[in-house]
Amino acid sequence: MWILVGLLCSVITLSWYLLFIKKFSYWKERGVLHPPISKLFGNVKQTVFFQQSDGELYHEMYQKYSQFPYVGFYRIRKPAILLRDPELIKDVLISNFSSFSDNGIDIDGSNDPLIANNPFFTSGSEWKTNRNYVAPSFTTKQMKLYFPLMQIVAKRLVRYLEDSRISSGGIEAQELCEKYTMDVVGTCVLGLDAKSFDSSTTDYIRFAKQIFSTDLVTTINFILRSVAPSIAHFLKIPYIPKGTTNYYQTIIAETIKYRKENNVIRNDFLNTMMDLQEKLGSDNLTGDKLSGHIFTFLIDGFLTTSSALAFILYEVGANIDFQEKLRSEIESKMREGEKGIMDYETLHDLTFFTSFINEALRVHPVIAFLTKRCTREFVLPPMITNGKSVVLQPGIPVIIPTFSLHYDSAHFSDPIKFDPHRFDEKYDKIKKGSYIPFGEGPRMCIGQKFALAGIKAAVIHIILNYDIRVNNKTKTPLEHNWQDMLLSANGGLWLDFIKR
Ligand code: HEM
Repeated sequence: MWILVGLLCSVITLSWYLLFIKKFSYWKERGVLHPPISKLFGNVKQTVFFQQSDGELYHEMYQKYSQFPYVGFYRIRKPAILLRDPELIKDVLISNFSSFSDNGIDIDGSNDPLIANNPFFTSGSEWKTNRNYVAPSFTTKQMKLYFPLMQIVAKRLVRYLEDSRISSGGIEAQELCEKYTMDVVGTCVLGLDAKSFDSSTTDYIRFAKQIFSTDLVTTINFILRSVAPSIAHFLKIPYIPKGTTNYYQTIIAETIKYRKENNVIRNDFLNTMMDLQEKLGSDNLTGDKLSGHIFTFLIDGFLTTSSALAFILYEVGANIDFQEKLRSEIESKMREGEKGIMDYETLHDLTFFTSFINEALRVHPVIAFLTKRCTREFVLPPMITNGKSVVLQPGIPVIIPTFSLHYDSAHFSDPIKFDPHRFDEKYDKIKKGSYIPFGEGPRMCIGQKFALAGIKAAVIHIILNYDIRVNNKTKTPLEHNWQDMLLSANGGLWLDFIKR
């Protein structure tokens, strides 16, 4: 309630001040077009009133300004810019990274201790240090250690599907994949058996999902942070609900204590971080920081990967010819492995599988847009022919609309069509900056290899044991749900798994 009252008072005061004193002139003065504005809310009126999500707003602008390399807009009164041109996007993410090195999210460490050191939320030298701390856990060498653990969980998933009480009437893939992914991160990060397949839901999953919840309070908080970050900061609204922070802080602390007391050594993320702490000393890598890095892995890897896997399984079920092709490619390579477990190296030979996943992440980019913040002046080319160059100033938010780029026929012919072959040998011809499911450049997703290995382990073991079909409870044509922070499907992704 207090949040609503605070929000209302702040919005009214701010609005009157801005309405009568300050004018919307920023983009006009610079020769940048923007959609028509509402005096009080700039271009985010529908977002503020829950009629449109950020993702939908960006997609609408992308399509409406199809002749231009970028388009300006106002979050309330704050100018922001949406990029359309892959060349510019490449500049922002790679070539001129130092002008956009910040993701534009300000975290109050005392309010959000578990994500204060997450590379995604940090910037400058702090970001670099944090990224360097976790990077050694995402090397190919580490993946070779994680991959057998992932396949043990994948086999558990296969056994779970054998239970006819679970599989009759179809299975909702998102829920199924959450169980799988939580068990994978549990074992690879903390050496824990999260036991997600043993009950309908677990605290591990429940608390993790609260972060991405779309209940009223979380949604208001999300909108507030997006359109009026200073008010959200003032009201000390955390990104991570307190209950989730407390729950995970306790689990992480207990696991570390147990390992220290019992001298447990295991090939997992926690072990790598504890070794690092010993090397750097606990003054540099404090207990809080270590817990934060563990949490980064648990949380960043959980819902992103489960959503992506759910969409991938849906595409396997929806494209039966491709499913056969996938199965025969996997079967032909599996014979070279041992006891139904595939080597990590063998994944490189599964070229159609790789194209299939690339295409599924094109049509379902679970993170539908990226947000960056200009950190150093950057000159944009003129928006219109014979126009003037535009100097982007530090502080301006920059939106990179991944979903819209992936569905633009200028970059992908017949973009609605699911066609893995567009990623075969032609992959090199895909314009840089137009295909970015994991982002690009120095801040590209650090967990990409881990996510792909986990996804592949699940698909391999399911497809060897089951025919996948789309259950008729799934809405056709599939509708993306933009309300959630991560892309999902309206009505869920219902699948049948038929034992082979
Ligand atoms: C299919 C699953 C996943 C997808 C689609 C995904 C996508 C992304 C995207 C789009 C970004 C932003 C990149 C940018 O700003 O340029 C990102 C950043 C990040 N991701 Fe992922 N991610 C996935 C899985 C994971 C996993 C499994 C982990 C960890 C175990 C992880 C950890 C991170 C971190 C730490 C960052 C911040 C990197 C930085 O700013 O330096 N992600 N991810």
